[in-house]
Amino acid sequence: MIVVGLSNSVKLAQKIARRTKSSFSSIVKKHFPDGELYLRFLKNVHGQQVVLVQSFQPNPQEALVEVVLAAVTARELGARKVTLVAPYLGYMRQDKRFNSGEAVSALIVARLIGQYVDSVVTVDPHAHRIPNLGRIFRCAFRSLTANRLLAEAIKRKLDANVVIGPDAESYQWAEQIADYLNVPVTVLRKTRHSSRRVTVHVVNEIDLKGKNVVITDDIISTGKTLIQAVKAAKKRGAKSVSCVAVHGVFAEDAYAKIKKAGATHVLTTNTIEKSKNAIIDVSSLIADALR
Ligand code: R5P
Repeated sequence: MIVVGLSNSVKLAQKIARRTKSSFSSIVKKHFPDGELYLRFLKNVHGQQVVLVQSFQPNPQEALVEVVLAAVTARELGARKVTLVAPYLGYMRQDKRFNSGEAVSALIVARLIGQYVDSVVTVDPHAHRIPNLGRIFRCAFRSLTANRLLAEAIKRKLDANVVIGPDAESYQWAEQIADYLNVPVTVLRKTRHSSRRVTVHVVNEIDLKGKNVVITDDIISTGKTLIQAVKAAKKRGAKSVSCVAVHGVFAEDAYAKIKKAGATHVLTTNTIEKSKNAIIDVSSLIADALR
């Protein structure tokens, strides 16, 4: 097996290669003067199982094109099998036609990727309205969860007394993490008015006075969800509020805004390795799945 680090996930790919005792290679990626991508493999992949590792953040459009170019090239060069490890699989949030005329990008991107690879491995994909994401990929599909890693990091670094999920969908992370930590959990109700405006309501009153609260979620994008949740917890007298999430997209300076709202710590995994405080390493999770 050869693990190939595409541009957004080079360090993670190196770690996966070490853990699976496979060889590692980066690729040459350049831009032609007109902005188009140039890509070149550096090692012989003939007869090998090629594992491409690529997160869809930052630059999701370019990340996708890079995956397609790499997958097709690997096959042309004689790869026996091509697996895409997409630690953060982009485009999954638009999983429904919310307004007439919209492209359902989750389905389209899944179909596109499935044409070029034999299998996809990802971590906590965000497609809340598609119960079995594997069905929309026309290839083998494996979805992993970083829950346990998040819980262990919280145990090591934060003295949590209460776990909060900021919206109904976040129960998948919040409940399991609270269970592992053996602390109470509550899930807030969120109303999303637009991609940049959300409101949250505490539906089950829980005593937060003097408590160290940890808010867990899958993605931090604009941070608006967590900002509202942090404020709600602070308003109820929490001693400290920290945020722990799988994917730190941190669009539009979200990290600084969440800190400004009063979060003590904001921790994420390295599914997006360039994000701030991406200190929770998912390489063991992915390596185990590949093995
Ligand atoms: C929503 O269902 C997700 O779990 C996250 O809460 C959401 O994607 C976060 O987005 P933002 O940071 O822009 O509020």
